[in-house]
Amino acid sequence: MFTKKVQDAINQQINAELFSSYLYLSMGAHFETVNLPGFANWMKLQSQEEYEHGMKFFHYINGRSGKVVLEAIAKPPADFKTPLDVMKKVLEHEKKVTALIEGLYELALKEKDYPTQVMLQWFIKEQVEEEKSASDIIELLKSIGDSPAGLAMLDSKLGARSRG
Ligand code: FEO
Repeated sequence: MFTKKVQDAINQQINAELFSSYLYLSMGAHFETVNLPGFANWMKLQSQEEYEHGMKFFHYINGRSGKVVLEAIAKPPADFKTPLDVMKKVLEHEKKVTALIEGLYELALKEKDYPTQVMLQWFIKEQVEEEKSASDIIELLKSIGDSPAGLAMLDSKLGARSRG
């Protein structure tokens, strides 16, 4: 059964995903201004993925004959420091999202909502990927240190990311 509690929690998750999209778009804008187009590309694609996550939840609520209720999206930060700082913020944010998804799963267990549990399994796996891709970039940035050539190479690598 699709309870109001589960529906409300998924509506909140739509908001969290759309905020993630907005946050990464803001980070993308930052990277445009500091002339790192590859990092900007990575962030803009990440922003699109987050929008799609929000839409997965949107379609799921509709598929259960529920009601989507959209709330205001909070303003993301606009000022950022080094690429390493930004990527650390991405990882920190993804860990928060993982905790939200796990909280939703616990609620679905409690409410005996089996279809929601199945739907959330995709997100549980996705979060492992999301945390790993941020961690991988953090490790690369740490190994690059202060090398401008290293940063340019990584920027070019991130610029090659396309819709997968
Ligand atoms: Fe939609 Fe990055 O979690």
